[in-house]
This record gives sequence, structure tokens and C-alpha cells, in this order.
Amino acid sequence: MSPRPALRRLDAAWRALERHRARIARVPLRDLFDADSKRFARFSLAVVRSARARPRHDGIFLDYSKNRITAETVERLLALARAADVAGWRRRLFAGAPVNASENRAALHPALRDRSSRSNVGSMARATLARMREFVESTRSGEKFTHVVHIGIGGSLLGPELACEALALLDDSKIVVRSARASPRVRFLSNVDGADFARAVRGLDPARTLFVVVSKTFTTAETLANAYAAREWLAAGLSKSAVSRHFAAVTAARARAEEFGIPKRAVFDLWDWVGGRFSLWSAAGLSCALVLGQDRFEEMLEGAHALDTHFRTAPLGRNLPVLLALIGVWNTNILGFRARAVVPYDSRLKRLPAYLQQLEMESNGKSVTREGRPVSRASAPVVFGTPGTDAQHAFFQFLHQSPNPVPVDFIAAVEPGPGPGTQRPILLANMLAQSEALMRGRNAAEARSAMEAERLSPSEIRRLLPHRVFPGNRPSTTILLRRLDPFHLGLLLALYEHKTFVEGVLWGVNSFDQWGVELGKQLAGGTARLLKGGKVAARDSSTVGLARRIRAWRGRRRRALGARKPAS
Ligand code: F6P
Repeated sequence: MSPRPALRRLDAAWRALERHRARIARVPLRDLFDADSKRFARFSLAVVRSARARPRHDGIFLDYSKNRITAETVERLLALARAADVAGWRRRLFAGAPVNASENRAALHPALRDRSSRSNVGSMARATLARMREFVESTRSGEKFTHVVHIGIGGSLLGPELACEALALLDDSKIVVRSARASPRVRFLSNVDGADFARAVRGLDPARTLFVVVSKTFTTAETLANAYAAREWLAAGLSKSAVSRHFAAVTAARARAEEFGIPKRAVFDLWDWVGGRFSLWSAAGLSCALVLGQDRFEEMLEGAHALDTHFRTAPLGRNLPVLLALIGVWNTNILGFRARAVVPYDSRLKRLPAYLQQLEMESNGKSVTREGRPVSRASAPVVFGTPGTDAQHAFFQFLHQSPNPVPVDFIAAVEPGPGPGTQRPILLANMLAQSEALMRGRNAAEARSAMEAERLSPSEIRRLLPHRVFPGNRPSTTILLRRLDPFHLGLLLALYEHKTFVEGVLWGVNSFDQWGVELGKQLAGGTARLLKGGKVAARDSSTVGLARRIRAWRGRRRRALGARKPAS
């Protein structure tokens, strides 16, 4: 189809949704539930079992019924998906077409988890997995390293950190206990901040510490600063020749890693067809494999691959990532909610909000389309979050009563993890109660009768009534996993990856580049010179003034330290 009619069709689909909004706006969610006893069944979906159909792999369950939608909304959203050619873009993604047009690259992260693929890319991925296995098994059986420190930033750290945190407690359970002796512990280091470096190495023995440096470019300033600091820290405790044996690297710039001094056998490849924020499935997950074992790591790939197969083959209306993305654009673009909270009711998923922040905001926080034209509608909303129930004691007041509704993703694993099993039902009850309260709210009559039941006086009731009303009608989506294990984590993360991609398609943006991070990086070099008192090209008075203030205070500290030094 030529671009013009396609654009017209797309525009018509958006406009139909905007018109439909007026009808939906009049009906509160609680009325939609009261009017339709089958609403939950209508707007929920359970899918994706392991390809090997292991009984313990139950897939993933999505309940999107607590969104302000009707069957007509879903039909209209699916019309939008068809007009935006989601199926065509999905085909192009899996076929390795250059979907990252501004960098003329494919985005082939799904190939990293397709171990049966016969493609070139598939065999490169398999060869790397085999090398990883060898390295992981020899490192774990050697028992030399008690700690792994993973150095990286952004996509080169957030995924591995999330996965290690989510699955680390497997270490203490019956699953890995037989090899617990051989499992090193892992710490993550990203920020260029001496305090963070000090935290990462506190109490560690250089002789028993392995640094895994993950950087696709091997030029990222923060990562290199930490890698050099690690080298110095090791050199203070080890012989010069031993230092290099305490490093491994994962990079697309092998020569730079080798130049840094990392032995060839400990350098693992990344490729330009894997974006940083989609790289967990590559050797960037080496630290996870070192800690959990290569088998566990590969189970995570299996989970992600099962979701890939579902995304690739399921019809749009029964397709988890597609539905999640459609709900996303409905909330963002049609209902006008510009933020989304991610609240996992599982403290093992505490890094999920940070991971999704990068995945969604770096992928789709764009204001020009793939063709370089201004976007005609809002793109990615702000993503933030904290695990429940902590979040309930932090920002849930806002979620329930602020005039700016924020849709929520609730995520939970049903089976208890390690620790007292009695706590999981309380945790899950809290999650269900919150999503119900957000949806239903409490109107004035209900608030009044609650206060009457508390035997408050009529004047107290009048005074408190406005404070005790909850507007409700606040959308949420719930994702349930049967348990949190590598397979199910793989499912969950691939679900969000593809959801992000589909949203990008609906917004017409390239989800795989990130030009917006460049300017700050470029200015940082000049600013560092400014902080040292050097001359730089004209800067604004705020930047210059702040740099002066920093220099003055640093000078004062240096003088104070000098004054304290004993005279030699
Ligand atoms: O913040 C920008 C970014 O390029 C991310 O996309 C990437 O994940 C991160 O920096 C790290 O880059 P590298 O892996 O090259 O060190």
C-alpha cells in the first residue's frame, strides 16, 4: 500500500478512538463491572507454556479488565494495530530487517534465545553460549572467586542486575543448594562515583574477586572509570601478572577490551544487532550465569523464547504484548495519562521498575517518527515504581486521591519464594485490594456510612467527608506468574520488550535507537575541563556559576586537608 492511504487509515483509526473516548468517559469502571459478570473472563488471557511443555512452566496470566475499556474499545484498538501494520513490523523484526533505521541495524535479540535457529545469527549466539558455559563451569568449579563484580551501566547492567536479584535466592533454596559452595556472590557497579565503587568492593578480597566489564562500545565513560579503578584496586593486592586474570569482558569492541588488558579467552562478543537494553540474553548476562549456573541462565532464555513464539504467532487480539501495548496507548494517548506506575508485589523484582524505565523511556521517549517527522501524539509515558507493599506507604496516596490518575501495572508471582510462606497470601491480598480500591473507589454515600459505623458525630462526618472519598475509576493491569523462576522471569521480560516494540510501532517511532543520550555525554567532557578551571567554549551563566561554586568548595576542602597534614 502506498504511504498516503496507509497514513490516512492510521489517522482515521486514531480519530475513531478519540471519538469513542467520549462514550467511555461517562461510564465509571465500577459500573462496567456491575453490568457484566463476565468482564474478567472477557478481558483476561492466560498463555505461553514452555515449548517442552514442562508441567512446572505455567506461563503468564494477564488481567486487563480493570482498564476503562469495553469490547468496542478493544475492537477499535485492534483496528489501530492493523492500520499501523503491527503484524508487518513483527514480521520484519523476526526476519532481521533493519528495524533500527537511524542506525541501519536489525534488532535480533529474539535470536539470542532461539537455540534451534539455523540462521547465521543463531549460530553465533549458540557459539557464544557454548563459550559462556565453558567459562562459567570452569570458574564455578575452580572455586577461586567468591565474588563477581559486574561493571556496566544502563542496558549493560540493569537486566543482569534485575535477573540476579530476582533469582539470587534460588541459591538458598533446594534448587541450587547442591552447588552453593561453588556459587560466587555478585555485586553491581554502574555509577561514576567513588562512594559506589567503595560500596561495591567493601570487604572483598582482591585475590577472590572477578570483575565482569560489560560495555557494548567499551568507550562508556562511567564503565571505563570503574574498570580502571578496579584494575588499581586489584593491583594494590595482587602481582602485576595476576591482575588480568581477574577480569572478563562482554563487548562488541573486542580490540578495546584486549587493549585494556583482558585476556582473549575472557572476552565475549556482543553484536551491533543487539541493543544494550535488549542484551541480557547475550553474554551480557555472564554474571548471572556465574552466580546462578549456566543451566538456569538458559532456562531464562527458554522462557523468553516461549514468549517470542507466542508474540510471533498469536493473532493480535489474543497476543499478550500486543494487548498490553494497546492498553498502554489507550491510557497514554486517548485518556491522557502521562505516567505509569510499575508495582511488583515481590521484593525480588525490586529492580524491575528501573529496568522498565530504561526499556520503555529510552526506547520510546522520542518526539520524531522513524521518518524524522514530529510525532503527532504523545509517546512513552513516565515509568516509575517500587515494590508493594512498600509503595503503598510511599506514593499510593497520590494514586488514590491525586487529581492526576496514574495507571498501574501490578505484577506478582503466586507461589511463595524462600522465607516464611505465610507472608505471600498477605502480600497478594494487598495487591488485589489495591487494584480493587483504585478501580471502585469509595463514593460519598459509602464514605458516610463507613463513618457512621465508626460512630463519628454528624459534624465530624461533614468535616471529614471530602477527605474520605476516593474517586476510583483508576485503571490497572495485573500480571500473574505462577512462580518466580528463570523460565517465568524470561517470559515476563520478553513480554515487556515486545510490548515496548509494539507501542513504538503504534507511535511510529524507532524503539531501538537512543540519540537523546548523546548531547549530555558530549557536554560532559567540556564541563570536566570547566571544573578544573580550564577554558571552554561559551557556556550559560548557571553552568559557569555552579562550576565556580564547586571549584571554590573543593579548593576549601583541599586547603583544610593541607592544614591538617603534619609537617614533615
Ligand atoms: O545510556 C545510553 C546507553 O547507550 C544505553 O543505551 C546503553 O545501555 C548504555 O549507554 C551503555 O552503553 P555501553 O554498553 O556501550 O557501555
